[in-house]
Formats: sequence, C-alpha cells, structure tokens
Amino acid sequence: MSICIRSLASIANLGPGFDVMSLAIMEPYDDAYIELSRGEDRVEFIGNYAHYLPSDYKVTTLYPVIEEFRRIMGIDFHVHVVVKKNIKPASGLGSSGADAAAMAYALNKLLNAGLDYKSLIRIAALGEVAAAGTPHMDNVAASLLGGLVIINPVTGDFVRVDLPDNYWVVIVMAGSKPSTKEMRKLLPNAVDMNSLKNNSAYASMLVYALITGNREALGKALMGDAVVEPVRAKLYPHYNAVKEALLKAGAIGVALAGAGPSLFGIFDFEPSKERINELLHARGLRDHALIITRPSNIGVHEIP
Ligand code: HSE
Repeated sequence: MSICIRSLASIANLGPGFDVMSLAIMEPYDDAYIELSRGEDRVEFIGNYAHYLPSDYKVTTLYPVIEEFRRIMGIDFHVHVVVKKNIKPASGLGSSGADAAAMAYALNKLLNAGLDYKSLIRIAALGEVAAAGTPHMDNVAASLLGGLVIINPVTGDFVRVDLPDNYWVVIVMAGSKPSTKEMRKLLPNAVDMNSLKNNSAYASMLVYALITGNREALGKALMGDAVVEPVRAKLYPHYNAVKEALLKAGAIGVALAGAGPSLFGIFDFEPSKERINELLHARGLRDHALIITRPSNIGVHEIP
C-alpha cells in the first residue's frame, strides 16, 4: 500500500501570532511517496534541497511521527519514504513541518487509523522537536489544513479560515539562521502586560483584516509584534532593507516568515518580480531568492 502526498509550505506567526497563527501557501511544496513496507524503514530525500537534510532519518521530523504511529497502533510496521524537497530547510517556510504533516496524513490513511485533525496536528508537531526543540503546532497545522490556521498550542484547539482570493504573498529568502531551536532560545520567557495586550489586539485585528481586506488594519497588525520579531530582527542584517523594499513595492505589511531568515509581504495585487528585485538591488541585496505565490485554502492532499 502506498500514497503520494503534496504538502505545502506555510508562514507561521504572521507578525503578532507567535506559535498561534500560520498561513498555508501554494508554493513551494514538498512531494512525498510513502509506502508501508517489510523489513526496515528506508527514507530518502531527493530534489533541490535534499542535501540540506541529515543522512540519518532518525534525526529528521519524519521519525517521531512514524514512532508515534507505531505506539498508537501497537504495530511494528515499516515504511519506504521518498521526499522530493522543494521547500528550503531552515528558511522560515515550514519545511520541516510540511514533511511531518505529510507523514502524519499518509500514515493515518495507510494504516486506516481514523484520527481527526487535532490528533494529526499533535502527532506531526512531535516531528518539529527535531528542528525547533519544541513541538510547535503552527506550521504543521497550516500544512495539514490549508488556509489561515489559528491554534492554541496549550490545548491544541484550532480554527481554520478560508481567505479571499485577492491576496499575493511575496517571500524574500535571504541570509541564514543557526536553527529554529537557537532562534527560540533568544526569546523572553515572560512578557509584560502591555506587550500581551498589544499582541492580542494585533493578532485579533489581523484575522479580521485578512478576511475583510481592511488594508490599514492589516498593515498595522502584521507589523505590530512587540515581543518576538523585534528580538529576532536584530539578528538579520537584511531585515530593514527587505522590509523597506517590499513596502515600497506596495506590500500592505511585511514580517519575518516564522523564525526567519525569510521575510514575506502581503499584497492585494500581483506585484512585479522585476520591480521588487530592482528595489532589493538598490538596497544592496544580491544573493536572495524571490517567491511570488498566493495563500492556499487547501492543505496536504493526495496527488496521482
Ligand atoms: N512559531 C515558530 C517560531 C515557527 O517562530 O519559532 C517556526 O517556523
């Protein structure tokens, strides 16, 4: 028994929604072939970014997901997995989460486990420990469900929202980060009341603004994080230049994609790649990659 799965990249946090908000995007995506097999596990990464993955699959996001299914189902099954990596690892686009989501979705089908999405999110998030040191749920939830996902990482309760089709997302991949794990270690353990109020207000405003298309509220909300982004932005020398360039190109708002180093801008028109590159070049950026894509209202799905 085998299955082919497409799992989409996602943008977590969206400014003020640290660990609680994430948006699935149409591109890039990883494709995975997953087969129940005899003998032992065989896991292979191919494609553009395969060389970024460790050769030992036991330290990838896939392994904890496989192990958790073995535990839940009480059977010692084995898998043959081939993942075509198109989402660049450690770029802030939920690369590790997409693979964990694909694996959870596939095993649920192949083993006829009948688990609901809340359980699949929990299981896929276990995979994130490999990349982030903690089972954060935002990326895996968006990859699994599509759309905009708002999740309570304490209880696992979530809602997903379909977005209207007038948005474009521009991602500028530049710079690098040590790892998501390291980027999380820098964050404060506690926040003051005013920061809490600020972020709750902007996170709520963000959802309203994305649904209604209120440009002013969306811009303020996306760029309103008072807790996480200000800490991380300091580590990225390209942060201000990219933000400035995307805003000049007409972005409604710009923020770090997940823990970075990529930044993304939300547009309500299809922006020109040439114009954005021109604006980035003018600010000294050369070694970047540009992705122009759209939010996706569908999540992980089977492909022929
Ligand atoms: N919410 C996570 C973080 C996303 O910001 O650390 C990581 O992709």
